[in-house]
Amino acid sequence: MITPFLLENKTILVTGATSGIGRCIVELIISMKGKVIATGRNSSILKELENRYSSEKVTVVSADLTKEKELIQLVESSPSIDGVVYSAGIVNSQPIRYLSRQKLEETMVINFYVPVELIGSLDRAKKINKKASFVFISSVSSLHPHKGGTSYSASKASLDAFVKVLALEYAHRGIRANSISPGMVKTPLYEQARELAGHTSMNEHLSQYPLGIGEPEDVANAVVYLLSDASRWMTGSTITLDGGLLLGY
Ligand SMILES: NC(=O)c1ccc[n+]([C@@H]2O[C@H](COP(=O)([O-])OP(=O)(O)OC[C@H]3O[C@@H](n4cnc5c(N)ncnc54)[C@H](OP(=O)(O)O)[C@@H]3O)[C@@H](O)[C@H]2O)c1
Repeated sequence: MITPFLLENKTILVTGATSGIGRCIVELIISMKGKVIATGRNSSILKELENRYSSEKVTVVSADLTKEKELIQLVESSPSIDGVVYSAGIVNSQPIRYLSRQKLEETMVINFYVPVELIGSLDRAKKINKKASFVFISSVSSLHPHKGGTSYSASKASLDAFVKVLALEYAHRGIRANSISPGMVKTPLYEQARELAGHTSMNEHLSQYPLGIGEPEDVANAVVYLLSDASRWMTGSTITLDGGLLLGY
């Protein structure tokens, strides 16, 4: 069946490809016939991806994106791309009175500065094809804050604002930019947040999801829509995927 959701002849750069949501996105892009440049730091997972798929489907690049040199190497080694999925990210929870500049920066760098630098660098290197689609994994935390979430909520709100500017600046080339704001999704990052928040407070939070918490596939499905020609009229938007959390259940 021909559907507008297929990613045939599209090469997509996926960051955060070694874990959780990003890893699931890699698998779904491949099953929708797209080609992936997968990047992350965990070399054994990258090796696993390389062994599992042929080089026509996946190329892996190991990079710590907070290191300028490694980011530049990633851009230089990349072919021309039809899309970027930015799924790399960290959570740093700290009450405001203990929040240092260093901790703030740690979160802002990988969650916000690096995606801005990555798109700018890819563009300067002329690696972005016409009609490309950029998808950023933001978080519902930008709209639904939690105590201790200053740096995380601010970094994701910045990402949502960036998407709107990006959409405006690149529309004349048919290039689109959107973000997705998931609520809680079952990944290693969720397990880490569970440890930090404590089980009682996490269970209280989970009870606020009318449809329960999400799976990585729930996010990956929306990513495929945004990468595909099915969403050709959509840009500068943020899709909330939260199992109904924002309904205030
Ligand atoms: N899970 C949730 O509940 C949830 C909810 C809302 C939004 N999100 C967002 O969704 C995205 C993916 O989250 P996840 O749950 O899949 O998290 P995860 O399982 O912890 O994966 C995070 C990914 O980011 C990569 N990464 C982190 N720092 C990096 C760095 N300095 N350089 C390169 N890669 C780096 C990691 O690579 P390595 O492992 O190779 O180091 C890993 O692939 C994040 O942006 C997160 O904020 C998650």
